[in-house]
Amino acid sequence: RPVVIGVDVGGTKVMAAEIAPDGEVLSVAHASTPGRRVEVELVEAALTQAVTEVAAGRRVAGVGLAAAGFVDSTGERVMFAPHLPWRGHQVRARLAERWQVPVFLDNDANCAARAETDYGAAVGAHDALVITLGTGIGGAVVLDGVLHRGRNGMAGEFGHAQVVPGGRECECGGRGCWEQYCSGNALVRHVRAALADGGAAPALLGLADGDAEAVTGPMITEAARLGDPVSLAAFAAVGEWLGIGVANLVAAYDPEVVVIGGGVSAAEDLLLGPARTALADSLVGAADRVVPPVLRASFGPEAGVVGAASMVREGLGRGARPR
Ligand code: BGC
Ligand code: NA
Ligand code: ZN
Repeated sequence: RPVVIGVDVGGTKVMAAEIAPDGEVLSVAHASTPGRRVEVELVEAALTQAVTEVAAGRRVAGVGLAAAGFVDSTGERVMFAPHLPWRGHQVRARLAERWQVPVFLDNDANCAARAETDYGAAVGAHDALVITLGTGIGGAVVLDGVLHRGRNGMAGEFGHAQVVPGGRECECGGRGCWEQYCSGNALVRHVRAALADGGAAPALLGLADGDAEAVTGPMITEAARLGDPVSLAAFAAVGEWLGIGVANLVAAYDPEVVVIGGGVSAAEDLLLGPARTALADSLVGAADRVVPPVLRASFGPEAGVVGAASMVREGLGRGARPR
């Protein structure tokens, strides 16, 4: 049987995977994306390398791309991507031509939301918000069981809501964006700042061989579980920012459930505990309304590839031209 491949094109890495019809991840390949100040060709070559590795010479039914950027409403172009060089490029057609297979394209958080509604934490939910925390913040809005795309395909870009006027510079060109305070990158930044201030982090520094610059998100999670004070404080801060942002989104959309995914969500209650507290504290009318549950996504870093493959199967099944 020809293979269906999902590819997650994140701000720092590419993950390609063969996905079974039930959403199971059968094999995976990784590559790195060199950032936004590079030639588009470099990113597309990294995708090609990862897809070729997963295909391993077999026939490919289709490839789904979950891209960390603003995808147009026809699923053809990436109009803008804070962490990648695509600016209006015809990504779908370019790669379909290069690979000679059907290619489907959507925003990475939209793909993650598809994985969660098809197989995961949001199955059966009519109204759901899916938020992914990684390099940045990805967002998806499901309304009445349908992914809400907006007029131009770009709804759900919550990560660039300005939460601190004149705040930290963001890769999007703006300042004070939510993802600067609440993401995997923000977690690492919190920790490095605390270490520079002489914060006590014996467990964490042990994991990072004493090198603050070598600290990663997974190390912070592990250290926090061991009770490391700097790591716990970083989760408290990022979790609080998460809960405040979620409160604003809940006020706007009144969802049934809020699903939090992306690498950082592996920390579970270390992150979601402070987020739930901040949500209850800052949601308007919280005492007199239903405060929706904030759940950890069922899929971790594989959500994008699983949802992208699901998009391929739906597209091929419709017999439609790849959108
Ligand atoms: C981008 C989104 C993307 C998210 C997660 C944000 O910076 O603007 O398009 O979904 O990062 O990768
Ligand atoms: Na989105
Ligand atoms: Zn921004």
